[in-house]
Amino acid sequence: MTTASEMHGRPADDRQPASNEDSAAAASAKAHWQLADIRYAQIDHSAVANDEDMFYLLMSASFVETGSDTYAANLGAHYARYPDIQHWLEDRWEHEELQHGESLRRYVETVWPSFDWQKAYDSFFAEYSLLCTQEALLEDPRLEMVARCVVETGTTAYYHTLRALSQEPVLTELLGHIRNDEVGHFKHFLSYFKSLQAKEPVGRLRIAQALYSRLKELRESDSDVALRHVFANKGVLFADRQRSFDDVAQRIYHLISTGLPAQLAVQMLLKPMLLPPKLESCLHRPISRLACRMLAY
Ligand SMILES: [Fe+2]
Ligand SMILES: [Fe+2]
Repeated sequence: MTTASEMHGRPADDRQPASNEDSAAAASAKAHWQLADIRYAQIDHSAVANDEDMFYLLMSASFVETGSDTYAANLGAHYARYPDIQHWLEDRWEHEELQHGESLRRYVETVWPSFDWQKAYDSFFAEYSLLCTQEALLEDPRLEMVARCVVETGTTAYYHTLRALSQEPVLTELLGHIRNDEVGHFKHFLSYFKSLQAKEPVGRLRIAQALYSRLKELRESDSDVALRHVFANKGVLFADRQRSFDDVAQRIYHLISTGLPAQLAVQMLLKPMLLPPKLESCLHRPISRLACRMLAY
């Protein structure tokens, strides 16, 4: 079976460290969880195979994560003037996102073997890749960092919610690993934003606009495209339930919006504003209502 990293001709662990700093990064990467750590053979199929909602949530996530390298290439080019950022994007971020895709793919293919993942993914990618353009990035490198913080907040909240919904131990463990990685990505993007901001500050109004516009886009893009292609390719799976696509989308939206860790999401979303702590806590409640609606799906 072709994996995402194989498709792009670069196995995850064949890169040689070139300096002491790289050696340290490689050592820390080694400590990162691996696919071999996931006990796929011990999946409790009875706890997940009939869970239609989980089928859609996990399939969609496996598609978006596997398509990460398209974004990674664009982001790498966007930050070519900042070698430390570019290096981290290519060496850690892309690798971890693709590992999310590969581990989720293996999970869903183990639980729902009749689903033709590659065929469905190919149809998803034909549409999704058109959205992943250089133009989709914010021109200002500081504001694109803010946008990345929003995306990683969205993925953290998504996997946090899925983990809470999971009734299957192997899946719970896998989702915990992925959620922790997404938190790590958020922290990296936030620290890069802070260092760019320290050199040449951008005003809070523009930061707030970048936060808002990326939040709005989250609702309309990746997951929605993925869900449509999962639904269109599900074949006989869950055919007895006779749900329309709108019905499925509505159920998934409801499930995620009611389980979303709003407090956590808001705490993360407000970080790039670099507000005084007192003001930040005053804003929690109104922003939490807004974020809950917008991050839901
Ligand atoms: Fe991810
Ligand atoms: Fe991420």
